[in-house]
Amino acid sequence: MTTPTDDIDRIMAVMSVAFDPAFGEAWNRRQVEDALLIGNCHYFLVNAAGKPAMTGEQAVGFSLSRTGFEEEELLLFAVNPECRRKGIGQIIIGDLLSAARSRGAKRLLLEMRRDNPAESLYRSNGFSPIGTRSDYYRQTDGRCIDAITFECPIA
Ligand SMILES: CC(C)(COP(=O)(O)OP(=O)(O)OC[C@H]1O[C@@H](n2cnc3c(N)ncnc32)[C@H](O)[C@@H]1OP(=O)(O)O)[C@@H](O)C(=O)NCCC(=O)NCCS
Repeated sequence: MTTPTDDIDRIMAVMSVAFDPAFGEAWNRRQVEDALLIGNCHYFLVNAAGKPAMTGEQAVGFSLSRTGFEEEELLLFAVNPECRRKGIGQIIIGDLLSAARSRGAKRLLLEMRRDNPAESLYRSNGFSPIGTRSDYYRQTDGRCIDAITFECPIA
């Protein structure tokens, strides 16, 4: 199914303000469009009240995930800096866990740059580290940072 252009616009609007450029983690529009074209990727847009953002409504946070065999991978997850620490990230993770369960996933995976403050949010939702890719991410200043893979079993 084709993703509405407006939804990609709203994902990109959050993307453009949410990721620190120093880490080069944000995706460009083409990457998002290509992921959604394949058909096994899912997104969730949330408004400032923490509810699903309806068509035409401003989104302040989103997740993008990919379904695999009995697992789901969180590819991207962000909240507008002006709306942080209000529980919106928690709502998005909670939605993702229940959506992944309904899609048949037995575990949710994600990769995170070492020392990302999001770690406490992941751990409080049942994620734990299962592996490290040394120097996986390259910052814009050339320094490298490990990627930590986290897993959350889905009951
Ligand atoms: C990670 C992110 C999505 C969290 O969104 P959020 O809406 O602020 O998260 P919540 O308000 O739901 O946070 C819930 C809890 O998680 C923890 N937490 C969230 N952000 C935190 C931070 N920066 N530092 C420490 N703890 C944090 C806290 O325990 C928080 O509860 P509290 O505010 O009552 O202390 C947001 O910081 C973000 O967009 N970061 C940039 C993009 C990014 O790094 N994404 C993750 C890639 S792996």
